[in-house]
Amino acid sequence: MTIRKIGVLGAGAMGGGIAHLAAAKGFEVVLCDVEQRFVEGAINRIAAFMDKSIEKQKMTVAEKEVALKRISITTRMEDFASVDMVIEAIFEDIEVKKSAFEKLDKICSPETIFGSNTSSMSITALAAATSRPDKVVGLHFFNPPLIMRLVEVIRGYYTSDETLKLASEAAQMMGKTPVVVKKDTPGFIVNRVMMPQFLEAIRIVEEGIATPEDVDTAVKLGLNYPMGPFELMDYTGVDIAVHVADYFFSESKDTKWNAPQTVKALIRAGRLGKKTGAGWYEHKKKGE
Ligand code: 3HC
Repeated sequence: MTIRKIGVLGAGAMGGGIAHLAAAKGFEVVLCDVEQRFVEGAINRIAAFMDKSIEKQKMTVAEKEVALKRISITTRMEDFASVDMVIEAIFEDIEVKKSAFEKLDKICSPETIFGSNTSSMSITALAAATSRPDKVVGLHFFNPPLIMRLVEVIRGYYTSDETLKLASEAAQMMGKTPVVVKKDTPGFIVNRVMMPQFLEAIRIVEEGIATPEDVDTAVKLGLNYPMGPFELMDYTGVDIAVHVADYFFSESKDTKWNAPQTVKALIRAGRLGKKTGAGWYEHKKKGE
């Protein structure tokens, strides 16, 4: 079996980015979300990005047309009936994800592989909602999916070697380097490394040791990271970071994962990062 047609469930920043990437790399893509405006929004963002690539002479108009034609948009999961692989990239709520997998299990062919782009949740729990736990795998992309070179391929309790192989091959065909996570554990590799850095950075600020700006500068220049922790939280979503920390806490009951008060205050104030126009920093929304 080779993966040729991919169903991407969820048209947010990650789902839209994955659909864009997959289409650019020659896969046929079905992009689905619950409302037409979400899928249309994603396709418009993809087209606008391609226009910029044309301006930069990194893409031709003909290439744009071919790539866009590879993506079909829908609000009906039934349109995933003929896909070889699903990549789920919906809201990080285990019950919502489980019910989507349960529905997909009835729609898709028994051969279809189910990948989840969850940033930290249990692949085994998602697999248990299906009749094909051997074909369920974690496929964790990083933001922005078009640029970031890694995909974590996560083995759930029952994931077969064949599924891991097919998922890794699909990631490679998208130009990514797959790394196999051998055990289904919260946060896999990257978020498990990244989360303590976020929490420590927040504690440094809470203890009055340095400002967020200076922590970001220190990390960028001292560790050669492209973004400091506060910039990165604003970029990927302050709520996502707290969600991952809360999940780690719920799984371990270890208070080291307790989200500090200052970050909880940001969430209560609706400062979720770039997407809301403010987070740790002020950001201008488009058109301002
Ligand atoms: N989508 C596609 N391409 C993008 C992009 C996006 N959202 N943002 C930037 N790019 C492209 C630009 O078009 C540009 O391409 P070009 O060289 O062909 O012109 C290139 O990236 C560089 O962009 P910029 O010059 O505008 O900006 P930067 O040099 O600052 O790069 C960045 C932007 C790539 C986002 C860089 O700052 C970066 O790598 N940041 C760190 C991102 C990161 O760590 N992501 C992982 C987050 S953790 C995660 O996702 C896990 C989850 O579970 C929480």
